Amino acid sequence: MKITMVGTGYVGLVTGTCLADMGNDVICLDKDEEKLKNLEKGIMPIYERGLRDLAERNIREKRLMFTTDTKKAIQSSDVIFICVGTPPKKDGSVDLNYVFSVAKSIGKYMNNYKIVVDKSTVPVGTAEKVEKIIKEELKKRNKETEFDVVSNPEFLREGAAIKDFQNPDRVVVGTKTKDEKSIKIMERLYRSTTRVGRPIIFTDRKSAELIKYASNAMLAARISFINQLSHLCDKIGADIKEVSKGMGLDSRIGSRFLQAGAGFGGSCFPKDVSGLLMTLKNNKCPSSIFSAIINANEEQKLFVAEKVESLLHGLNGKTIAVWGLSFKPRTDDIRESPSLTIVKMFLEKGAKLRLFDPEAMDNFKKVFPESDNIYYGKKPYDAVENADILIILTEWDEFREPDFGLIKKKMKSPRIFDGRNIYNPEEIKEEGFEYEGVGRR
Ligand SMILES: NC(=O)c1ccc[n+]([C@@H]2O[C@H](COP(=O)([O-])OP(=O)(O)OC[C@H]3O[C@@H](n4cnc5c(N)ncnc54)[C@H](O)[C@@H]3O)[C@@H](O)[C@H]2O)c1
Repeated sequence: MKITMVGTGYVGLVTGTCLADMGNDVICLDKDEEKLKNLEKGIMPIYERGLRDLAERNIREKRLMFTTDTKKAIQSSDVIFICVGTPPKKDGSVDLNYVFSVAKSIGKYMNNYKIVVDKSTVPVGTAEKVEKIIKEELKKRNKETEFDVVSNPEFLREGAAIKDFQNPDRVVVGTKTKDEKSIKIMERLYRSTTRVGRPIIFTDRKSAELIKYASNAMLAARISFINQLSHLCDKIGADIKEVSKGMGLDSRIGSRFLQAGAGFGGSCFPKDVSGLLMTLKNNKCPSSIFSAIINANEEQKLFVAEKVESLLHGLNGKTIAVWGLSFKPRTDDIRESPSLTIVKMFLEKGAKLRLFDPEAMDNFKKVFPESDNIYYGKKPYDAVENADILIILTEWDEFREPDFGLIKKKMKSPRIFDGRNIYNPEEIKEEGFEYEGVGRR
């Protein structure tokens, strides 16, 4: 099949590469020329395990191409995926300008039947709007070309994106009618999914759009739920990890997304919960659960920063080592990462920061450049040099079993605040550290 991915970010690049690897001819269209030039040379704009090798092979075999030529990309494909960003506006609603501008271009250049696939996370009703925009553009050209707009939300997790494409929990496809041409083509496109026994759900477009928001909001709700309980554990001396474990063993509850920490981040959860909240409000529906998810998350970052402040009896002049800056392990993505808020608070209170992350430091440096107060270590152990405290903000595997003896030797005072509860408190204390976690000691 001939496919165009509009937007070559986390979603477009990974999905495009995986679709090319299945034998499709894929054109990745982006407006960022530098990004595409680098991609042609095999330089990936993002860190995602396994992506470089897969992309390189498909570029070499000429199934994966990159272009900034919108007209060519639209005219030479049967299926056009919209994978551009849908960032939040100041009021929390979703900025759909990128999506609508792609829809306009499709209407402007479309020359024969196309399936337009909304893969970006978009509020309920967007597929209808995309369809309307394309129709208006066609009308301006006096064209009556047939097309279908399909909603196919993406559920990949950064850090496991390729695996998620190859073996998704489910694929959701929303169509306008139950008998349109696009259904067969989407079935064919996702044949590899059904081949590995994973389901494709065909539904209407609004339900498909809502499934994405509802799924992310539910996962975020679980995190905020356990995070808020961690405050109580902290006060009364219970252990939140034990609470999660005991709850998670209930088969009705399950253990995933029930780990207390420094709050959720990333390009999806915060903006998608806010986006859903706005949709509920616009439709005059009760929405208190959804505001609570967001508020609890903001409070959690503050809770972590204040814990560190109280452990150090004030932050002014203190040196804080931070391990982990990305919003989660195995990605270089720092969008909405709790580390952004927490590091900012530390700096405002006069602390000096020594930071380390295996993949996210280049992105973090764009927001917090190296300075007298901010040092970036080449190795995790560089960051702890002379520090008053080490805090863990992302649970990268390599932080799980470090050389505690070396850390202790390098730190000014052996103190760890485990913002992701990755350590066993007893073991760390036996190593000679003062230890605190989130909702456990
Ligand atoms: N990142 C994730 O893990 C993830 C997971 C599921 C869903 N999503 C959703 O997928 C969408 C894309 O997310 P992302 O993280 O890949 O975004 P991203 O910001 O990484 O990439 C978007 C790309 O689109 C390009 N772009 C913008 N307008 C364009 C235009 N008119 N023509 C061509 N290119 C254009 C940008 O240059 C950028 O490269 C969002 O709606 C997001 O919510 C993301």
